[in-house]
Amino acid sequence: MCGIIGYTGNRNALEVILEGLKRLEYRGYDSVGIAVGNHEIRVYKRRGSVSALESDIRKTSLSGTIGIGHTRWATHGEPSDRNAHPFLDCTGRFALVHNGIIENYQEIKEELRSKGHSFTSDTDTEVIVHLIEDLYEGDILKAVMGAVSRLDGSFAIVVMAAGERRLIGVRKESPLVIGLGEGENFLASDVPAFLKYTNRAVFLQDGDIAVITANSWKVLNFGGEEVKREVTDIPWNVESAEKGGFKHFMLKEIFEQPYAIMNTLRGTSSLYLRTVDENDFERIKIVACGTSYHAGMIGKYVFEEMLRIPVDVDVASEFRYRERIREDAIYVFITQSGETADTLAAARIARRMGHRTIAITNVIGSSITREVDEVIYTNAGPEIGVAATKSFTTQIVAIYRLAQHIAEVRGLAAHDDLWTELRLLPRLVSNVLQRHSEIEDIARTLKTAQNMFYIGRNISYPTALEGALKMKEISYIHAEGYPAGELKHGPLALLTPKTPVVALVPPDRTYMKMLGNVKEVAARGAPVIGVGAEGDEDLIKYVDRTIYVPRTRPIFYPVPISVALQLLAYYTADMRGCEIDKPRNLAKSVTVE
Ligand code: AGP
Repeated sequence: MCGIIGYTGNRNALEVILEGLKRLEYRGYDSVGIAVGNHEIRVYKRRGSVSALESDIRKTSLSGTIGIGHTRWATHGEPSDRNAHPFLDCTGRFALVHNGIIENYQEIKEELRSKGHSFTSDTDTEVIVHLIEDLYEGDILKAVMGAVSRLDGSFAIVVMAAGERRLIGVRKESPLVIGLGEGENFLASDVPAFLKYTNRAVFLQDGDIAVITANSWKVLNFGGEEVKREVTDIPWNVESAEKGGFKHFMLKEIFEQPYAIMNTLRGTSSLYLRTVDENDFERIKIVACGTSYHAGMIGKYVFEEMLRIPVDVDVASEFRYRERIREDAIYVFITQSGETADTLAAARIARRMGHRTIAITNVIGSSITREVDEVIYTNAGPEIGVAATKSFTTQIVAIYRLAQHIAEVRGLAAHDDLWTELRLLPRLVSNVLQRHSEIEDIARTLKTAQNMFYIGRNISYPTALEGALKMKEISYIHAEGYPAGELKHGPLALLTPKTPVVALVPPDRTYMKMLGNVKEVAARGAPVIGVGAEGDEDLIKYVDRTIYVPRTRPIFYPVPISVALQLLAYYTADMRGCEIDKPRNLAKSVTVE
């Protein structure tokens, strides 16, 4: 997820764009760039923050009343000066910024190279501006329309041309908004970029092409016909706009999960991993911390079921100090930030032992990417809330993809129908999100709880652990995840009518056993919240409240159930007046031991 902005009007474009980029840094901040100029386009870009670029630019004489800017969250190509946007074509006549993923950029790049185009970056984006140059015959709008019709994937782009008073924006599955000012107009990924200047916005739809000047705007479809779009008055101030109108970043990121999962599926549609493709191995070792460790535990069930090979999962801080025995295994390190000290140390140990290693991470260019042989990116976009949400569900999706890839490489059962259903996950998650009011209502029953249990069996056991961690870390209720079969070995002693229990009861091989556990818990007077598949008429008989998720394959239930439990934790914490985005004592990335 990146931040893009374009401006045309009567102010100093540099000032407007710098201000707008600062408001978009929550969308991505590993590198940044600006292109400005009414006649000759000049580009300044670099790795690092907007303020770092600003201090560079202040030393130049960059000026003009039209320009574009970009804050990057890398998906293709390491964060670096040369991979930062904007990109120029070979002639320097066109400049472009982009948010999204171009799936067919390699073939376009080869085609343009054969026509003599040279590229300066590893990004997918750069091919777009060269494609525009290649198609340009005097009309920039026609060239842009021709170029975008060739692109597969998701994109929001803004294009400027030397000497032109127009900016052209195109939206396909990545957000793009027009800001309407007096004698000035804006194009941006999100409204915070221009709210300082105007609260009048036009939200573009997929397939829209916006053409703006300082005093005019119009929207066309890809066929060139003009289309009508409503003007919206934005009621938010800048601060709430950065959260997209959500009360907290965590809630915004919970609701971003359909889009994030779609990006993970898209970004992992064709994996090539020498670690897997060129090595036989008898075991998989997974090492991680916190929520990522729970994703690893879910991975154990996925890999063992799909690949029929043994999997061990370790907490990184334990792995580091245990006697280690070399085995015929590959290591998978899961870390959203890519900076967790214990996970990094574990990766170095595994490598010193001679093992092949893979990381699953959300941050391109993070430290873990330099400590392993290969990387699978979750492409979830920046996660600002300390509590992991979209980074967790996209880690699970990356695990599904890795299992699918290893099965294909090893010629195991294809399970084509299963992987076809994998693509339905964004829709399943949207379905759960639509039930947010029911879940908020159930959260009211937890507002004064001091202790809770989350219980599950099989793949729902680590899902229960993660649900409990979410509740612990943002509502400060002592919530404990437990294997349901273990309650009778001690924890039952703790159950009282004041100890709510969340029971995960999806229709899998443990369903009847879980119903038994629900009855066991209810018999001790503990209030039970059952989480089950929609249409389950039995579960509702034995629990006090029910959260339904859409039916899917047993192996996929951790994703929709986790989203429901994220919402349950969020609403409970909010009703308790907790500081949700920055919980006490916690940091987003634990870079110390
Ligand atoms: C989970 O909500 C926490 N933010 C924390 O447990 C986190 O998952 C853990 O610190 C690991 O972080 P990483 O994925 O960046 O390595």
